[in-house]
Amino acid sequence: MANDKLKSSDEPSLMWGGRFSRGQNSVMEAINASVDFDKRMYAQDIRASQVHARMLGAQGIIKSEDANAIVDGLNLVKKEIEKGDFSLSSALEDIHMNVEARLAELIGEPAGRLHTGRSRNDQVATDFKLWVRDALDALDENMRELQCALIDVAEVHAESVMPGFTHMQSAQPVTLGHHMLAYTEMIGRDRGRAMDCRKRLNENPLGAAALAGTSFPIDRDMTTKELDFDRPAVNSMDAVSDRDFALEFLSFGAILSTHLSRLAEEYVIWCSQQFAYVALGDAFSTGSSIMPQKRNPDAAELIRAKAGRVIGALNGLLIVMKGLPMTYGKDMQEDKEPVFEVFDTLKLSLLAMTGILGDSTFNIERMATDAGRGFATATDLADWLVRSLAMPFREAHKVTGGLVKMAEEKNCGLENLSLEEMQTVEAGITDDIYSVLSVDNALASRKSYGGAAPHNVSQAVKDARLRFL
Ligand code: ARG
Repeated sequence: MANDKLKSSDEPSLMWGGRFSRGQNSVMEAINASVDFDKRMYAQDIRASQVHARMLGAQGIIKSEDANAIVDGLNLVKKEIEKGDFSLSSALEDIHMNVEARLAELIGEPAGRLHTGRSRNDQVATDFKLWVRDALDALDENMRELQCALIDVAEVHAESVMPGFTHMQSAQPVTLGHHMLAYTEMIGRDRGRAMDCRKRLNENPLGAAALAGTSFPIDRDMTTKELDFDRPAVNSMDAVSDRDFALEFLSFGAILSTHLSRLAEEYVIWCSQQFAYVALGDAFSTGSSIMPQKRNPDAAELIRAKAGRVIGALNGLLIVMKGLPMTYGKDMQEDKEPVFEVFDTLKLSLLAMTGILGDSTFNIERMATDAGRGFATATDLADWLVRSLAMPFREAHKVTGGLVKMAEEKNCGLENLSLEEMQTVEAGITDDIYSVLSVDNALASRKSYGGAAPHNVSQAVKDARLRFL
């Protein structure tokens, strides 16, 4: 083992070893290599290289036969990778050099012309942007599917009454549909953030070369167009040192996973025997190896926990980037693992949350009973005093407080107080007050735009389908 650590290979790198006479220490190779993870960008790397080669050919920087040989050779490399025939070497450091080395084995001399007017610095920035762009598009679809599941529940339960909470205390009645549409909005903003990130990242770094541009007459507009970027990055130094797009991806991810963790947490609470608002089906719950009665919401707990990883990844990359001088530093190779990990985590969490929603049975009787508890219509009583007796709201709040206290002492609901009892607190109260004390009436009256009235919720479900799906 000790010897192993000191061992160096005898030959310097084929790719950049011109000024070296010996190979690398194996520990150096281990710390330097990124191919174990950046192999995930193979398709983006090959695509960008093909575009670069075609541009070099079109500009007469390399012969068009060579450009064609490179493009065809890269197709073969891609096939080999996809078939699993390709053995990646950490001595070749990263996916970029592995692909180029294999291309050289396949097509010989023209392969050596591919890297003309390009550096791995603009190459890696380009590949990584293409990867993040694909990741955002894939996640957008997963987020859309989650919204679809939320809206489906909202449609079925547009009128299912449940308590709405503030401070985890019963506050005012709402419907389960309204609750689900709240999450639909959150995920809608997450999709918006993902698309903002996509828009901002969509500038082409290719052609910035190492950091200062190139003396070759390259055509950056051509590569921009062929790689579906909106425009070439304006400043070559910024182009190779910018990792904002990775940070924005992780920021979007941190907020999304925070949203998912909130819904997951509600599920954990709702699944408890104490709440029993929802029963998870067999497909999305687990049993206990010792307590046969248990049905645990493990998937929800894990979604809740995975937000930790995602937030950690964002913090990690912010700390890597903080204080880095212009332009590229090898530190930046640490940008990929957090992004890949966050992509996998978000995808899995979104799929699991979508699955949970589809596998849930809501106990609407239980929720409705709870909605009537805790003087949930006290605000409606106060509003009645304002409307019917022209009382200032602050005064109405005080009077209502007195009535709640009376009901509490009598251990009954507000609607169970007699008119005479109520009139001892406020003489002007009439029979009409009972019309607002029922949960259903209270709920139906919340017709203000964005409010919880079932009629609003049914309309909001329709709107949400048009806006999001
Ligand atoms: N593997 C490197 C990365 O992921 C590629 C860029 C290397 N550039 C360099 N100048 N050494 O960042």
